[in-house]
Amino acid sequence: MHNDIEKVLISEDDIAAKCAELGEQLTNDYDGKFPLAIGVLKGALPFMSDILRHINTHLEMDFMDVSSYGGQMRSSGEVKIEKDLDTKVEGRDLLIIEDIIDSGLTLSYLVDLFKYRKANSIKIVTLLDKPTGRTSHIKADIAGFEVPNEFVVGYGLDYQEKYRNLPYIGVLKPEIYSGK
Ligand code: XMP
Ligand code: MG
Repeated sequence: MHNDIEKVLISEDDIAAKCAELGEQLTNDYDGKFPLAIGVLKGALPFMSDILRHINTHLEMDFMDVSSYGGQMRSSGEVKIEKDLDTKVEGRDLLIIEDIIDSGLTLSYLVDLFKYRKANSIKIVTLLDKPTGRTSHIKADIAGFEVPNEFVVGYGLDYQEKYRNLPYIGVLKPEIYSGK
C-alpha cells in the first residue's frame, strides 16, 4: 500500500471482478447495437479501459473532458467543457463512463447536453457512487460500488493530480490534506 494511503476501500481484485460483471450486463444491454462509449477524462480512464474489454459488442469510443472542481475537493457547481467529443451523438446510443458520481452536477450537465444533441439513448455507468453528496437528480443506470462521504483516490481518482495510478480505491491520510 502507498505510504500516503490510510486505508484501502476497494481492492484491485474487487474492481476487476466488478468490471467483468458490469461488462457482461452491458454486453446484453447493447446486443446488436453499436454504442458510443464516452469516457469522462481524466478519472474514468482506468475504469473505461478495464470495463470495455468485457463488453462483447461492437462499440465506438470517444472522450470528453469537463471541469467542475478547479483543483478543489468540492464541486464549484460550474461545468466547463475542456475537450468536446469528436463524434456526432445524434441518433446514437451513448454509454457515459464515469469514475464517481458525487454531487451529480457534471453528469446532469452532460446528460442535458447530449439530449440537446439528440442522442437516441443515454446510459450512465459509474464505478463509484457517493449518494450522500448528491445535489442534483442524476442517477447512474449502473453503479459498481457505493462509497461513504469520504474523499477517495486511486484507479483514476486524484488529489491534486496525484494517485490516479494506484490500482485500488483508497482514503488518504489526513495529514496529506492538511499539508503537514
Ligand atoms: P460531481 O460532484 O459533479 O463530481 O458528481 C464528479 C467529479 O468530481 C470528482 N470527484 C472526486 N474525485 N475523489 C476524487 O478524486 C472523490 O472523492 C471525488 N468526488 C468527486 C471526480 O472527478 C468526478 O468525476
Ligand atoms: Mg471525473
